[in-house]
Amino acid sequence: MGVKEKISELHERMLSEMASAENRQTLEEIRVHMLGKKGELTALLRSMGQLAPEERPAAGQLINEAREKFTGMIEKRAAEIKVRERELALERETLDVTQPVEKPLIGSKHPINRVMDEMVECFTGLGFEVLEGPEVELDHYNFELMNIPKNHPARDAQDTFYVDDNIVLRTHTSPMQARAMLTRKPPIRVICPGRVYRADEVDATHSPVFHQMEGLVIDKDVNMADLRGTLNAFAERIYGKGITTRFRPSFFPFTEPSTEVDLTCSACHGAGCRICKGTGWIEVLGGGMVNPKVLEMCGIDSSVYSGFAFGIGLERIAMLRYGIKDMRLMYEGDVRFLGQFR
Ligand code: DAH
Repeated sequence: MGVKEKISELHERMLSEMASAENRQTLEEIRVHMLGKKGELTALLRSMGQLAPEERPAAGQLINEAREKFTGMIEKRAAEIKVRERELALERETLDVTQPVEKPLIGSKHPINRVMDEMVECFTGLGFEVLEGPEVELDHYNFELMNIPKNHPARDAQDTFYVDDNIVLRTHTSPMQARAMLTRKPPIRVICPGRVYRADEVDATHSPVFHQMEGLVIDKDVNMADLRGTLNAFAERIYGKGITTRFRPSFFPFTEPSTEVDLTCSACHGAGCRICKGTGWIEVLGGGMVNPKVLEMCGIDSSVYSGFAFGIGLERIAMLRYGIKDMRLMYEGDVRFLGQFR
């Protein structure tokens, strides 16, 4: 076979191999196989020694032209492959911003925590300190220091979970009053939010576990008007402008005098509606002047100091605030309910 025929055969092979070369590596293999030191075209060049001397220049020229041509073909194909690879990479990396995505569920603050946080903000703004204490409480703090001795009828009103004779699950946050007075010197201004427990059957307005916030102020010359002013500020803060308090005489062993406190009905602003049963007022909390007996038991000189205290049920505040009709909704963890407080 002459040089010319051999070259055209190699050319044919190059064309067909390169047509199926899809990446740079295969292309490089083709180049080495053809133009490399041991490549076929190089071998052809080496074999020129076997030709007659007068044939050599023409054959050499043909081979050099072929080398140039093949190199050009490979470079052209390499450029095409590079473009194609870029296109493929771009395709792979493309983001379709119109694709629908599943939104992750975002949690929300529980209504109890919402009112608790708001109340804490309100009272800390008035200079109160937040104090937390044990839910498993000594009978001594829960009852005795709150002026509710053994066999006192007030114990029956609070269906107590007893751990043993001396330990209870606290039935209210009031024992925190004693803890505050025994660990601090007046002036004292504390609020004590937390869980409380009573052996109640579950229904729309009762739960064996619920939440209260206790408030206590001890200083010289503290009186009922200070309690009123404090609770009025609280009422406006939680329910809005124009909401005020009404005090009705009541009885608690740990306060004297004691009061039941109503707030202007926030649904009708006092006009009278279904929620307030036409009265314009809603009962929300208890309070009063700290009983001097309690002050003395807790190491405060009642001839120098006086104080007020109050206890607020957080469930009740949340139910009124958000129009929740059944307390059980707040404990069942149904996301359809909870999601409304986002
Ligand atoms: N401890 C009372 C209860 O659980 C609420 C209460 C009433 C707290 C009057 C007080 C208060 O501090 O002065 O029903």
